[in-house]
Amino acid sequence: MCGIVGYTGNKQAQPIVLESLKKLEYRGYDSSGIATREEKLVICKKEGPIANMESVLPKSDSTLAIAHTRWATHGVPSDVNAHPHSNSENTIAVVHNGTIDNYLDIKENLESEGYKFKSNSDSEVLPALITKHYSGNLVEALNKSLEVIQGIFTIAVIHEDHPDEIVAVRNETPLVIGVGNSENYLASDIYAILKYTQQIIYPLDNQIIRLTSKSIEVFDDSLNKVDYEIEEVEKYTEVSEKGGFEHFMLKEIFEQPKALQDSLTELLIDSPLEKLGLNWKIGSISVVACGTSFHAGLVGKYVIEQLTAIPVSVSYSSEFRYAAPVQGVGGLLSSRPLVVLISQSGETADTLAAARVARQQGCHTIAICNVPGSRITREVDGVILTKSGQEIGVAATKTFLTQMQALYALGIHLGFTSGSIDYPQLKMWESEIRKLPSKLTQVLNNSESIKALAAQFVKSKSVFFVGRNINYPLALEGALKLKEISYIHAEGYPAGELKHGPLALLSEDTPVVAIAVQDHTYSKLISNIEEMSARKTPVITIAQKGDELAKKVSDFCFEIPEIDPVLSPFPIAVFMQLLSYYVAHELGTEIDKPRNLAKSVTVE
Ligand code: G6P
Repeated sequence: MCGIVGYTGNKQAQPIVLESLKKLEYRGYDSSGIATREEKLVICKKEGPIANMESVLPKSDSTLAIAHTRWATHGVPSDVNAHPHSNSENTIAVVHNGTIDNYLDIKENLESEGYKFKSNSDSEVLPALITKHYSGNLVEALNKSLEVIQGIFTIAVIHEDHPDEIVAVRNETPLVIGVGNSENYLASDIYAILKYTQQIIYPLDNQIIRLTSKSIEVFDDSLNKVDYEIEEVEKYTEVSEKGGFEHFMLKEIFEQPKALQDSLTELLIDSPLEKLGLNWKIGSISVVACGTSFHAGLVGKYVIEQLTAIPVSVSYSSEFRYAAPVQGVGGLLSSRPLVVLISQSGETADTLAAARVARQQGCHTIAICNVPGSRITREVDGVILTKSGQEIGVAATKTFLTQMQALYALGIHLGFTSGSIDYPQLKMWESEIRKLPSKLTQVLNNSESIKALAAQFVKSKSVFFVGRNINYPLALEGALKLKEISYIHAEGYPAGELKHGPLALLSEDTPVVAIAVQDHTYSKLISNIEEMSARKTPVITIAQKGDELAKKVSDFCFEIPEIDPVLSPFPIAVFMQLLSYYVAHELGTEIDKPRNLAKSVTVE
């Protein structure tokens, strides 16, 4: 979603913000723009990829710049709706991430005062308001403007009169400040500026920041100067190359054995629960997440409930925050509810809002997140940091597997501390988890057969994915991956539910992908496959190695390596990802940046 970068320093600003902006491309966007200060402010913005804007970018020696990638919320993607937005005199340039909820009222008021707007974007009210309140001090003008704005936002502003200054603020959307030597940076994502500095300031909501090349000032909403902390961030390996793969998504799928391996050290160490502050009896667990992270949460429910006696509920973040209070809140502190928030980006607005609701209700909160220092990691009581490395493909792959691994680790340790499993069982589970990377490698080595299978799907208008028990969430994830990147309609269903509706839709042109591992639901699943085959539906089954029955009842059977059914979601996820990838590849879609989707969804 929208990305913001800014630079003030002693070097040419344009190449720096351009490069930083490209690091934010993975978040998803539909237009981009840059404002620099020459004699006057110069704004260049264009619909489409950054390259469109770059091709018309005038040469600039400015040492000050702000830049933006836009993901349309108000007003179609177009040159005029792209950011930066300016005032009628072109003395102010503003970039904005988020939404201004009361922009129509503000617009009407300003129009009645004679102001003429150029775009349909909610963000254009910002330069208009700041101009209205400006009398030489940009910090004051922004602060006054904030008094009338309702919504969520990160805003960065430059003014023609201030050749060295960027003023910025955030409310619920991300903003980081990078501290340099005679130069300073801002961005909505640390990845954008880590190449230049690892000294990072994380401003709080509604603090106003004034950056010049040589100074950083932070003000509270009464405009008193406040102290800030500079944190040293671990240098992240920059991901700019596809390493010989055609797409980042494919590269990331193949990186999964390593991602699981790298995350293990964080997860399977002694007493991880103490590290998370979980040193009391947990009455219940609510897992809260969106998208693929939600599916990881559903798998986690099965695992945690199997290994502990703790009931687990799983909610979409956007629903959780408006639902009735978590059960058990207000009860004895000795059995407090735990809310586990899962977000690969750590920025998803709905999940952040859910975290706040959970804390307000008195729940203990932990986050499972892949981005160190991200917003959610700063708003919860404990963090499990997965170590997938940066994920560029919009469709989550390796972060999904490490999220699941984190939930298994949590389940094992909660099971052990609550007495549901003993020490040898704890060690047995840990040892099984350690074997996962090699199981995934076996599936990856078989990718050619999945590629061959993909051809069968390209003409389908609709595909069903079915599973039972712990693999029902994998059916959901398989369907989500397929629709995200191939744009083929797909639905995930509990296999036993097909006969209550979807069976009516099955035909020769509607393939079904069925997950049939040998757990206690296996025989029922086989019966379900037979029901589907009887409707002439092509059935592709994922089964454990050597499963002759599954082969017999299906049109095609993909074998996953021998594995405990409880751990089968890992190799099955790899199959699902590769299947979607190869179908999308056959169809020629934009796999890494699917239409209309964003990697970080920072609006609710
Ligand atoms: C977006 C991404 C998905 C992701 C979801 C939740 O929709 O495209 O891949 O699963 O957000 O993101 P989060 O960062 O909270 O896990």
